[in-house]
Amino acid sequence: MLAKKVRAAVFPVAGRGTRFLPATKASPKEMLPIVDKPLIQYAVEEALEAGVSKLVFVTGSSKRAIEDHFDTDPELERALTEAGKDDVLQTIRNIVPSGVTCIYIRQGEPLGLGHAVLCARPAVGDEPFFVHLADDLIAGSPGCLQQMATAYEAHGGSYIAVENVPPENTSSYGIVAVDTSDNNRVTQIVEKPAPEDAPSNSGVVGRYLLAASIFDKLEKTGKGAGGEIQLTDGIADLLRDSPVYAHSFDGVRYDCGSKLGYLQATVAYGLEHPDTGDRFRAHLLGLADTLRK
Ligand code: G1P
Repeated sequence: MLAKKVRAAVFPVAGRGTRFLPATKASPKEMLPIVDKPLIQYAVEEALEAGVSKLVFVTGSSKRAIEDHFDTDPELERALTEAGKDDVLQTIRNIVPSGVTCIYIRQGEPLGLGHAVLCARPAVGDEPFFVHLADDLIAGSPGCLQQMATAYEAHGGSYIAVENVPPENTSSYGIVAVDTSDNNRVTQIVEKPAPEDAPSNSGVVGRYLLAASIFDKLEKTGKGAGGEIQLTDGIADLLRDSPVYAHSFDGVRYDCGSKLGYLQATVAYGLEHPDTGDRFRAHLLGLADTLRK
């Protein structure tokens, strides 16, 4: 099957990040660093790996830092050059390679994830696209979006990344039911059901590859769970006339929208980082000894 290449990735970044206040009072939660890179940079790198050339950020108030992060900073570059700090210079140059366009769209009102995705329509056009929620950091090689692109190039359709969640936590996730005899085609999707109403414990994590026809569905989607326009409800409408598959990704997901998940990600990435790995490992081993006593 010759599927259209996915060229755009949408990053809904308008949420206020209340779980991280006061850290997120004046700075977006997507700018929280894991070791030395903000979450939104991991997100962008995953999308670039999957071959996109258009990065669409759906932003809200207090999100200027994201635009600045992906823009060039000639003054800083000059200062680093003069100081002979070439290695640091390389880390801030070409975060977004040439040929890749960044587009910023204001959501205006926080009406929900489905509404945020719909705001990206003029920038995405009539093409399949990724949606990436930067809170969900996934360590994987290839990255989750690339894995989904590979499945899409072979079979077409839309894709949602899923993983099993503890049954008592279904009310924190979109939950899917799938037909395992048909390539894990999604038969049902519900936003944040109570455990007794959940069709399974297969939870949606923040990666989607969606057909452009989702936009027409979202135009018609009313308020759902939490009084918001939910992407999940748009997808529930989409799967009635277009195949949507659940993708169980290879990789480890960290819920960086929660304090515990954020700390777990920091430890995991700190252990892998060339600047910190060895000494951090030694520190943690010493700490484990102390904690055991
Ligand atoms: C959103 C989606 C939900 C999904 C989750 C993954 O919820 O609405 O379906 O399971 O992302 O992180 P949020 O966490 O933004 O409330």
